[in-house]
Amino acid sequence: MGYLLSTVDFQKMGEFIYRKTGIFLEAEKHYDKLAKYIDGRCKTIGADSFRKYFYVLRFEDKDGNEFQSLVNGITVNETYFYREKEQFEVVVGRILPELHAKRPKHLPIRILSAPSSTGEEPYSIILHILEEGKIVEERDIEVVGIDIDSTVISKAKAGKYTERSIHAIPKPVLNRWFKARPLGYDLIDDLIGTVDFKVANVFDRSQMRQLGKFDIIFSRNMLIYFDDASRKEVAMTFYDMLNPDGYVLLGHAEYMSRITSVYKAKKIDSTLIYQK
Ligand SMILES: C[S@@+](CC[C@H](N)C(=O)[O-])C[C@H]1O[C@@H](n2cnc3c(N)ncnc32)[C@H](O)[C@@H]1O
Repeated sequence: MGYLLSTVDFQKMGEFIYRKTGIFLEAEKHYDKLAKYIDGRCKTIGADSFRKYFYVLRFEDKDGNEFQSLVNGITVNETYFYREKEQFEVVVGRILPELHAKRPKHLPIRILSAPSSTGEEPYSIILHILEEGKIVEERDIEVVGIDIDSTVISKAKAGKYTERSIHAIPKPVLNRWFKARPLGYDLIDDLIGTVDFKVANVFDRSQMRQLGKFDIIFSRNMLIYFDDASRKEVAMTFYDMLNPDGYVLLGHAEYMSRITSVYKAKKIDSTLIYQK
Protein backbone atom coordinates (compact mmCIF):
# COMPACT_ATOMS: atom_id res chain seq x y z
CA MET A 1 0.00 0.00 0.00
CA GLY A 2 1.29 3.48 -0.86
CA TYR A 3 1.42 6.58 1.34
CA LEU A 4 -1.46 9.08 1.66
CA LEU A 5 0.96 11.80 0.49
CA SER A 6 1.26 11.95 -3.33
CA THR A 7 4.24 13.59 -5.01
CA VAL A 8 2.08 16.63 -5.87
CA ASP A 9 1.00 16.83 -2.20
CA PHE A 10 4.68 16.65 -1.23
CA GLN A 11 5.24 19.84 -3.16
CA LYS A 12 2.34 21.57 -1.36
CA MET A 13 3.64 20.47 2.02
CA GLY A 14 7.18 21.47 1.05
CA GLU A 15 6.03 24.99 0.21
CA PHE A 16 4.00 25.26 3.42
CA ILE A 17 6.94 24.07 5.58
CA TYR A 18 9.38 26.33 3.75
CA ARG A 19 7.18 29.39 4.24
CA LYS A 20 6.79 28.73 7.97
CA THR A 21 10.24 27.43 8.94
CA GLY A 22 12.71 28.15 6.13
CA ILE A 23 13.45 24.40 5.99
CA PHE A 24 13.80 23.32 2.37
CA LEU A 25 12.69 19.73 1.73
CA GLU A 26 13.78 17.85 -1.38
CA ALA A 27 11.66 14.99 -2.76
CA GLU A 28 14.58 12.57 -3.25
CA LYS A 29 15.86 13.04 0.30
CA HIS A 30 12.76 13.75 2.35
CA TYR A 31 9.66 12.24 0.70
CA ASP A 32 9.65 8.96 2.66
CA LYS A 33 10.20 10.60 6.05
CA LEU A 34 7.43 13.16 5.49
CA ALA A 35 4.99 10.62 3.97
CA LYS A 36 5.51 8.22 6.90
CA TYR A 37 5.04 11.05 9.36
CA ILE A 38 1.77 12.18 7.70
CA ASP A 39 0.38 8.61 7.60
CA GLY A 40 1.05 8.40 11.36
CA ARG A 41 -0.62 11.73 12.10
CA CYS A 42 -3.64 10.89 9.91
CA LYS A 43 -4.14 7.67 11.89
CA THR A 44 -3.87 9.56 15.20
CA ILE A 45 -6.28 12.37 14.31
CA GLY A 46 -8.69 10.15 12.30
CA ALA A 47 -8.04 11.78 8.89
CA ASP A 48 -8.49 9.47 5.89
CA SER A 49 -6.71 11.63 3.31
CA PHE A 50 -3.84 14.10 2.96
CA ARG A 51 -6.41 16.77 2.02
CA LYS A 52 -8.15 16.37 5.42
CA TYR A 53 -4.82 16.47 7.28
CA PHE A 54 -3.71 19.59 5.40
CA TYR A 55 -7.05 21.27 6.17
CA VAL A 56 -6.65 20.54 9.90
CA LEU A 57 -3.06 21.80 9.80
CA ARG A 58 -3.98 25.08 8.12
CA PHE A 59 -7.41 25.95 9.50
CA GLU A 60 -8.21 23.97 12.64
CA ASP A 61 -4.88 24.14 14.44
CA LYS A 62 -5.82 27.02 16.74
CA ASP A 63 -3.32 26.17 19.51
CA GLY A 64 -0.53 25.38 17.00
CA ASN A 65 -0.02 21.83 18.33
CA GLU A 66 -0.45 20.13 14.95
CA PHE A 67 2.13 22.44 13.39
CA GLN A 68 4.50 21.94 16.34
CA SER A 69 4.18 18.17 15.95
CA LEU A 70 4.97 18.46 12.22
CA VAL A 71 8.05 20.58 12.96
CA ASN A 72 9.22 18.11 15.60
CA GLY A 73 8.79 15.33 13.03
CA ILE A 74 10.92 16.87 10.27
CA THR A 75 13.85 18.59 11.97
CA VAL A 76 17.34 17.07 12.06
CA ASN A 77 18.65 17.52 15.61
CA GLU A 78 22.11 15.89 15.41
CA THR A 79 24.52 17.53 17.87
CA TYR A 80 27.11 16.68 20.56
CA PHE A 81 29.15 18.38 23.26
CA TYR A 82 32.41 20.08 22.18
CA ARG A 83 31.44 19.85 18.47
CA GLU A 84 33.88 22.03 16.50
CA LYS A 85 35.48 22.85 19.85
CA GLU A 86 38.03 25.35 18.47
CA GLN A 87 35.16 27.84 18.24
CA PHE A 88 34.43 27.60 21.97
CA GLU A 89 38.15 27.99 22.67
CA VAL A 90 38.34 31.14 20.51
CA VAL A 91 35.25 32.59 22.18
CA VAL A 92 36.53 31.99 25.70
CA GLY A 93 40.20 32.73 25.02
CA ARG A 94 39.86 35.75 22.71
CA ILE A 95 36.34 37.11 22.19
CA LEU A 96 35.09 37.14 25.78
CA PRO A 97 38.21 38.91 27.16
CA GLU A 98 37.83 41.52 24.38
CA LEU A 99 34.13 42.09 25.10
CA HIS A 100 34.73 41.99 28.85
CA ALA A 101 37.25 44.85 28.51
CA LYS A 102 34.96 46.84 26.20
CA ARG A 103 31.51 46.51 27.76
CA PRO A 104 30.38 48.44 30.87
CA LYS A 105 31.03 46.23 33.92
CA HIS A 106 27.44 46.22 35.18
CA LEU A 107 26.02 44.74 31.95
CA PRO A 108 25.91 40.99 31.36
CA ILE A 109 27.55 39.55 28.26
CA ARG A 110 24.76 37.72 26.41
CA ILE A 111 25.32 34.67 24.21
CA LEU A 112 22.65 33.05 22.01
CA SER A 113 22.72 29.50 20.70
CA ALA A 114 20.30 29.46 17.75
CA PRO A 115 19.63 26.57 17.24
CA SER A 116 20.50 24.79 20.47
CA SER A 117 18.88 21.43 19.66
CA THR A 118 19.10 19.29 22.84
CA GLY A 119 21.44 21.72 24.60
CA GLU A 120 24.91 20.31 23.95
CA GLU A 121 26.08 23.53 22.21
CA PRO A 122 25.01 26.12 24.83
CA TYR A 123 26.20 23.84 27.65
CA SER A 124 29.55 23.48 25.87
CA ILE A 125 29.77 27.28 25.97
CA ILE A 126 28.98 27.25 29.71
CA LEU A 127 31.52 24.48 30.39
CA HIS A 128 34.27 26.38 28.55
CA ILE A 129 33.45 29.55 30.50
CA LEU A 130 33.46 27.69 33.83
CA GLU A 131 36.67 25.85 33.04
CA GLU A 132 38.33 29.18 32.17
CA GLY A 133 37.02 30.49 35.49
CA LYS A 134 38.23 34.12 35.53
CA ILE A 135 35.70 36.19 33.54
CA VAL A 136 32.71 34.51 35.14
CA GLU A 137 33.94 35.74 38.55
CA GLU A 138 33.95 39.34 37.36
CA ARG A 139 30.77 39.61 35.35
CA ASP A 140 27.43 38.01 34.58
CA ILE A 141 27.25 35.95 31.43
CA GLU A 142 23.82 34.92 30.17
CA VAL A 143 23.39 32.03 27.75
CA VAL A 144 20.09 31.56 25.89
CA GLY A 145 19.26 28.50 23.74
CA ILE A 146 16.44 28.42 21.22
CA ASP A 147 15.11 25.82 18.81
CA ILE A 148 11.95 25.50 16.73
CA ASP A 149 11.53 21.87 17.89
CA SER A 150 9.75 21.67 21.26
CA THR A 151 10.89 18.05 21.91
CA VAL A 152 14.57 18.99 21.84
CA ILE A 153 13.97 22.00 24.09
CA SER A 154 12.27 19.75 26.69
CA LYS A 155 15.25 17.39 26.54
CA ALA A 156 17.68 20.32 26.84
CA LYS A 157 15.92 21.47 30.00
CA ALA A 158 16.21 17.98 31.51
CA GLY A 159 20.01 17.86 31.01
CA LYS A 160 20.22 14.06 30.54
CA TYR A 161 22.66 12.89 27.89
CA THR A 162 23.84 9.72 26.18
CA GLU A 163 27.33 8.32 25.76
CA ARG A 164 27.25 9.43 22.10
CA SER A 165 26.51 12.99 23.10
CA ILE A 166 29.36 13.34 25.63
CA HIS A 167 32.06 11.37 23.76
CA ALA A 168 34.19 14.45 22.88
CA ILE A 169 34.27 15.98 26.38
CA PRO A 170 37.69 15.60 28.05
CA LYS A 171 37.42 13.12 30.97
CA PRO A 172 38.32 15.55 33.79
CA VAL A 173 35.69 18.01 32.54
CA LEU A 174 33.12 15.22 32.28
CA ASN A 175 33.86 14.07 35.83
CA ARG A 176 33.51 17.58 37.22
CA TRP A 177 30.21 18.56 35.62
CA PHE A 178 28.28 15.31 35.03
CA LYS A 179 26.90 12.46 37.12
CA ALA A 180 27.28 9.04 35.51
CA ARG A 181 24.15 6.89 35.52
CA PRO A 182 23.57 3.37 34.13
CA LEU A 183 22.55 4.56 30.65
CA GLY A 184 24.24 7.91 30.25
CA TYR A 185 25.25 11.13 31.97
CA ASP A 186 23.26 13.84 33.77
CA LEU A 187 24.46 17.41 34.18
CA ILE A 188 25.08 18.12 37.86
CA ASP A 189 22.21 20.00 39.52
CA ASP A 190 24.17 23.27 39.75
CA LEU A 191 24.32 23.44 35.95
CA ILE A 192 20.62 22.79 35.31
CA GLY A 193 18.99 26.15 34.61
CA THR A 194 22.22 27.95 33.67
CA VAL A 195 20.97 28.10 30.06
CA ASP A 196 17.64 29.80 29.40
CA PHE A 197 15.95 27.48 26.85
CA LYS A 198 12.98 28.55 24.73
CA VAL A 199 11.05 27.21 21.75
CA ALA A 200 11.42 29.83 19.01
CA ASN A 201 11.54 30.06 15.22
CA VAL A 202 14.34 32.19 13.77
CA PHE A 203 11.90 33.43 11.10
CA ASP A 204 9.46 34.73 13.69
CA ARG A 205 10.53 38.36 14.03
CA SER A 206 8.51 39.03 17.16
CA GLN A 207 9.86 35.92 18.96
CA MET A 208 13.38 36.96 18.00
CA ARG A 209 12.87 40.56 19.15
CA GLN A 210 11.62 39.35 22.54
CA LEU A 211 14.94 37.58 23.16
CA GLY A 212 16.68 40.96 23.31
CA LYS A 213 20.20 41.91 22.18
CA PHE A 214 23.26 39.65 22.22
CA ASP A 215 27.03 40.00 22.11
CA ILE A 216 27.72 36.61 20.53
CA ILE A 217 25.40 34.44 18.42
CA PHE A 218 26.25 30.81 17.66
CA SER A 219 24.24 29.60 14.67
CA ARG A 220 25.79 26.34 13.64
CA ASN A 221 24.44 23.66 11.34
CA MET A 222 20.98 25.11 10.73
CA LEU A 223 21.51 27.38 7.71
CA ILE A 224 22.51 24.28 5.70
CA TYR A 225 18.82 23.26 5.74
CA PHE A 226 17.69 26.60 4.26
CA ASP A 227 17.86 28.09 0.76
CA ASP A 228 19.75 31.31 -0.08
CA ALA A 229 16.82 33.69 0.52
CA SER A 230 16.11 32.21 3.97
CA ARG A 231 19.79 32.23 4.94
CA LYS A 232 19.97 35.91 4.11
CA GLU A 233 16.84 36.68 6.10
CA VAL A 234 18.22 34.91 9.18
CA ALA A 235 21.65 36.55 8.82
CA MET A 236 19.96 39.97 8.80
CA THR A 237 17.78 39.08 11.79
CA PHE A 238 20.95 38.17 13.72
CA TYR A 239 22.55 41.44 12.60
CA ASP A 240 19.65 43.36 14.16
CA MET A 241 19.90 41.26 17.35
CA LEU A 242 23.62 41.92 17.87
CA ASN A 243 25.04 44.70 20.01
CA PRO A 244 27.61 46.90 18.21
CA ASP A 245 30.83 44.89 17.52
CA GLY A 246 29.03 41.65 18.41
CA TYR A 247 29.97 38.35 16.76
CA VAL A 248 28.33 35.50 14.85
CA LEU A 249 29.81 32.00 14.59
CA LEU A 250 28.57 29.56 11.94
CA GLY A 251 29.09 25.84 11.36
CA HIS A 252 32.14 24.62 9.41
CA ALA A 253 30.17 24.17 6.17
CA GLU A 254 28.50 27.58 6.40
CA TYR A 255 30.05 30.84 5.13
CA MET A 256 28.64 34.30 5.74
CA SER A 257 30.48 35.64 2.65
CA ARG A 258 28.11 33.55 0.51
CA ILE A 259 25.07 34.99 2.31
CA THR A 260 25.65 38.73 2.88
CA SER A 261 28.48 41.27 3.02
CA VAL A 262 27.23 43.24 6.04
CA TYR A 263 29.53 41.42 8.50
CA LYS A 264 33.31 41.79 8.78
CA ALA A 265 34.98 38.37 8.53
CA LYS A 266 37.88 37.76 10.96
CA LYS A 267 40.12 34.74 11.24
CA ILE A 268 41.38 33.93 14.72
CA ASP A 269 43.73 30.93 14.68
CA SER A 270 41.89 28.74 12.17
CA THR A 271 38.41 29.89 13.24
CA LEU A 272 36.30 32.21 11.07
CA ILE A 273 34.06 34.61 12.95
CA TYR A 274 31.85 37.42 11.73
CA GLN A 275 31.64 40.82 13.41
CA LYS A 276 28.83 43.38 13.19
C1 LIG B 1 21.66 19.89 13.33
S1 LIG B 1 20.91 20.80 14.64
C2 LIG B 1 22.26 21.85 15.10
C3 LIG B 1 22.46 21.93 16.61
C4 LIG B 1 23.73 22.68 17.07
N1 LIG B 1 23.70 24.08 16.70
C5 LIG B 1 24.99 22.03 16.54
O1 LIG B 1 25.60 22.59 15.61
O2 LIG B 1 25.38 20.97 17.02
C6 LIG B 1 19.80 21.85 13.71
C7 LIG B 1 18.64 22.39 14.56
O3 LIG B 1 18.04 23.49 13.86
C8 LIG B 1 16.70 23.58 14.31
N2 LIG B 1 15.94 24.46 13.40
C9 LIG B 1 15.60 24.23 12.11
N3 LIG B 1 14.87 25.25 11.61
C10 LIG B 1 14.76 26.17 12.61
C11 LIG B 1 14.12 27.44 12.71
N4 LIG B 1 13.44 27.96 11.68
N5 LIG B 1 14.20 28.11 13.90
C12 LIG B 1 14.89 27.57 14.96
N6 LIG B 1 15.49 26.36 14.92
C13 LIG B 1 15.44 25.67 13.76
C14 LIG B 1 16.27 22.12 14.30
O4 LIG B 1 15.12 21.89 15.08
C15 LIG B 1 17.51 21.40 14.82
O5 LIG B 1 17.42 21.10 16.19
